[in-house]
Amino acid sequence: MRSFLGRDILALKDFERQEFFRVFDVAEQMEPIARNRRNVDMLKDKTLVTAFYQPSTRTRLAHEAAMHRLGGHVTGFSDAKMTRAGDWYQESIKDTVKMLEFYGDVIVMRHYQKGAPAEAAMWSSVPILNGGDGWGEHPTQILTDLYTVLQQKHHIDGLRWVAVGDMRMRTMHSLGYALTQFDCPITFVAPGADDLFPGSPDMRMPEEYKKDFASYSLDFREAEHVEQVIAEADVILVEPVIQPDYTKARQEAATDYSLTPANYKITRELLATKAKPDAMLLHSLPRMDEIPLDVDTTRWSRYWQEAFNGVVMRMALLALVLGATE
Ligand code: CP
Repeated sequence: MRSFLGRDILALKDFERQEFFRVFDVAEQMEPIARNRRNVDMLKDKTLVTAFYQPSTRTRLAHEAAMHRLGGHVTGFSDAKMTRAGDWYQESIKDTVKMLEFYGDVIVMRHYQKGAPAEAAMWSSVPILNGGDGWGEHPTQILTDLYTVLQQKHHIDGLRWVAVGDMRMRTMHSLGYALTQFDCPITFVAPGADDLFPGSPDMRMPEEYKKDFASYSLDFREAEHVEQVIAEADVILVEPVIQPDYTKARQEAATDYSLTPANYKITRELLATKAKPDAMLLHSLPRMDEIPLDVDTTRWSRYWQEAFNGVVMRMALLALVLGATE
């Protein structure tokens, strides 16, 4: 297995099976620290730099919270507009990262351009963690989700997944790649072009990913309505279909957006009448109306557990890439 020390975490494509289990083992070790709201001194000499070119609540703050839990320091920016990368100069990734690498020991980057964290990793002497890149990947989120499943179900192999939402989403790509390493069939449920409203984009899994998943022997298929497939699911992972364009730095809220059609919506009634009693429902959040609030208090919802594990997983990744556990 490749060492995690000094390693960039850019994608789950080509992440190997035993590497998943190594990360999950370390997360399990970290969990009591977060659970008991303790801070330890494992990373007391280390600093995390946050470079967020797109808005975030969970990814940035979970990384920051994780660093604090491990006794480390945090600096960085949450709005590139206040840096030279986002003002008149539009400073390049290279020039920005050649500065940031001197301000800390690891950088977590979110960017609206697919591949930006990988470009940063070419120039950085410290590890880069991809906090989500355009319509690319979101590896730390899906590691969190798989860990949540493992924690709840005690195994991952053999579970059947249904993923609902916009398949252009970076989480969906990381999920597909991750499941190539497990015995987990998956069904993708997403709107085609014009399905939401006239002119709405095709949100089905892009061909380039389907080709790639097929070459890795992922057992996947597609469906049009969640109602057709939810009964077979052990894990239901949902993302919005009403959402901003992830290739833009920022988009203001639309005032005239449509509601999520029933095809992509998980209601109490649907769960109660069709879902397996022990299925688990994940959503990385933020949400629109695809999971109504009253689903929160059903037996299926696990997204608050997922949110807690977001800190645990980032603790594990920081400890691994900064060499606190090897
Ligand atoms: N799930 C997730 O990536 O949330 P944020 O956009 O708030 O970071």
